[in-house]
Amino acid sequence: MQTDLRGRNLIGDLDFSKEEVETVLEVAWDLKKKRALGEPHSYLRDKVLAMLFFFSSTRTRGSFEAGMAQLGGHAAFIESRTTQISHGDTEKELGEIFGRYFDGIAIRHVDWGIGNRYLNLVAESSRVPVFNMQCEIYHPFQILADLMTIMEKKGKNLRKRKMVVSWAYASSYLKPISVPQSLILQMPRFGLDVVLAHPPEFRLMPEIMDQARAEAKKFHTGFEVVDNMDEAFKDADIVYAKSWGPLLTTQDPEKGKAIQDRYKNWITDSRRMALAKEDAIYMHPLPADRDVEVTSEVMDGQNSVVFDEAENRLHVQKAVMSLTMR
Ligand code: CP
Repeated sequence: MQTDLRGRNLIGDLDFSKEEVETVLEVAWDLKKKRALGEPHSYLRDKVLAMLFFFSSTRTRGSFEAGMAQLGGHAAFIESRTTQISHGDTEKELGEIFGRYFDGIAIRHVDWGIGNRYLNLVAESSRVPVFNMQCEIYHPFQILADLMTIMEKKGKNLRKRKMVVSWAYASSYLKPISVPQSLILQMPRFGLDVVLAHPPEFRLMPEIMDQARAEAKKFHTGFEVVDNMDEAFKDADIVYAKSWGPLLTTQDPEKGKAIQDRYKNWITDSRRMALAKEDAIYMHPLPADRDVEVTSEVMDGQNSVVFDEAENRLHVQKAVMSLTMR
């Protein structure tokens, strides 16, 4: 167990070592148990978290805000458009000034080529930890919650378990690529054999793919890329199928939508789930385009763990904040 995480940022998935992630999970399970028993756990009394959003959120906002209150502190919800950022406040100002007001700064900024840089620049000027509530490259807290959920459903020894990370069709908007990228970075460290499936235009960042391959090699796990959803689902233990935009192919929303519309049959339905193992779990970070990305039958079915997954956001975030913001 590596317990000295005080003052640490969490921006990219590999910022914490495997042992540090294991510590986060142990603390998260303890906090989950304490909440279930109604035991007080005010580890962050009088501490305040700034939550700066450049993009909409349901789960991330709710779980960070509730988490800080349950830890005895407070979270301040700040929308970028109601700040002076558009009138000249820079990342340096944000880091310096919010670092003096708050005990942690959490940011969601998913704009392509801008978000991750923004978070890192704020972190450079901040005296308090900076947390990534999702950028265009990574969504680390989502993936910690996913890992916690997988271990709850499949056990802590995940070696030889097959996880499919698949693209799926959506019509609502071009979703960021951060979730699949974070999944392929983090999951090999915990023994999962990952199969990544997507149509050719939906490839992920080459540097992230290289890192994922290196992690898989280091931890002696499988990492395969296919362009067929049915093939990927075969004998899977974990099905994680969600949409993302063809952002490495085009950043033009109209062109992206036209490409996306070629693949409307990439939906998770009961026929496809039947290709996976009988006890395979279905995962999605939400929001999902119901009956477009995934059928309601699958999403509300007995193999779906989407609500446990959403709940675990609360517990892992409380664990990271408790360990870093003390
Ligand atoms: N999964 C997730 O990050 O949800 P929100 O976009 O609602 O925060």
